[in-house]
Amino acid sequence: MEQRHILVAVTGGIAAYKAPELVRAFVKAGHAVRCVMTRAAAEFVSPMALQTVSGQPVRRELFDAAEEGGIDHIALADWADLVVVAPATAHTIARLAGGLADELVTTLALATRAPLLIAPAMNVNMWRHPATAANVATLTGRGVHWVGPDAGELACGWEGEGRMSDPARIAERAESLLGARDLTGVRLLVTAGGTREPVDAVRYLGNRSSGKMGYAVARQAARRGAEVVLVTGPSGLATPDGVRRVDVGTALEMRDAVLAEFAAADVVVKAAAVADFRPAAASELKIRKEDLADGAGLSLELVRNPDILAEICRDKGKRVVVGFAAESHDVIATARSKIARKGCDLLVANDVSNADSGFDVDHNTVSFVWPAGDVESLPPLSKDEVAGHLLDRVTKLLGDRE
Ligand SMILES: Cc1cc2nc3c(=O)[nH]c(=O)nc-3n(C[C@H](O)[C@H](O)[C@H](O)COP(=O)(O)O)c2cc1C
Repeated sequence: MEQRHILVAVTGGIAAYKAPELVRAFVKAGHAVRCVMTRAAAEFVSPMALQTVSGQPVRRELFDAAEEGGIDHIALADWADLVVVAPATAHTIARLAGGLADELVTTLALATRAPLLIAPAMNVNMWRHPATAANVATLTGRGVHWVGPDAGELACGWEGEGRMSDPARIAERAESLLGARDLTGVRLLVTAGGTREPVDAVRYLGNRSSGKMGYAVARQAARRGAEVVLVTGPSGLATPDGVRRVDVGTALEMRDAVLAEFAAADVVVKAAAVADFRPAAASELKIRKEDLADGAGLSLELVRNPDILAEICRDKGKRVVVGFAAESHDVIATARSKIARKGCDLLVANDVSNADSGFDVDHNTVSFVWPAGDVESLPPLSKDEVAGHLLDRVTKLLGDRE
């Protein structure tokens, strides 16, 4: 099994005595583990026990000059492929929900881009308390993953939900979140964001695409081991770890960049919102309103931009090509005719008429439309989850080609 980086955060509950067993399970599975703990956790399990089983020093303090001089806390957050909080106290869950960052564990949880898996452990009344329930709901809404708590006899003498899940079960859940490195060796080209078509020296025609969907595909593909090139229109989003980024402005630049990278790609995912039209001639100087009478019209002649998706589909060979169709109406019918016309392997149809889904939000409601016209509709999901489903389909298509 491929070695992954797991950051285990131990907090101050009685179940902390099981944390070394969890660390051992990760180490036995071949993963690299680093442990951090809250001050309260050290009342229940010794840092030495965690250090011995992980084979690494255990960090407890945010303000630790010696440790910050080595692998600082941001580097530790970036290092992690997965953060597991086990056991997670009611207190730490509240602090995570509040986005606090005044000690090491919660600061790391805020700073990391890795998925967060929480294994709560507490008295049943603490778990059922509306405050805890509200914190759990908040974190769930942010995409946090949970394992347990299980029901049974609790260390405090009560019966009910509150037991930390067995280390073996937590390890199993962690393994499924880490996911397979099933795209190792695959070269994936993904496009993202909108293009800007110059009107004059200062103005452009653009669209509302934020690039979030394409960046999510790039991030998830890199996590799954792909060699990823991201060709992106202007975007304020950070480049995902391990991804090579090529910045472009206009649709014509996007076309050049895509064609330059295309030959080396095994998979192309075209999530960018490339302008269909551009001004026939952009004025080199700023068009001044003073040159027109009040209320006078100004016409802009538009010409069609090349259809990059259709172009690469013509030469796609054994490559897997996935297109996106953002539509405000007749979504499925339009997507069906688009896939038939262009000849890509899969089309992701995206209904952008809903304000909570589509452009510039973190969620998306999509349908996968296949060449034969069949449709798989997904529920509303985060863009990272949509990317995960999309890459599952890509992996299957690649497998079918071997
Ligand atoms: C003996 C003892 C056992 C405790 N067990 C738990 C527990 O299982 N779960 C929990 O949420 N809090 C438990 N607490 C309370 C936490 O230790 C306390 O809320 C602490 O502030 C948690 O800090 P931390 O979340 O930063 O580790 C326990 C306290 C004591 C004294």
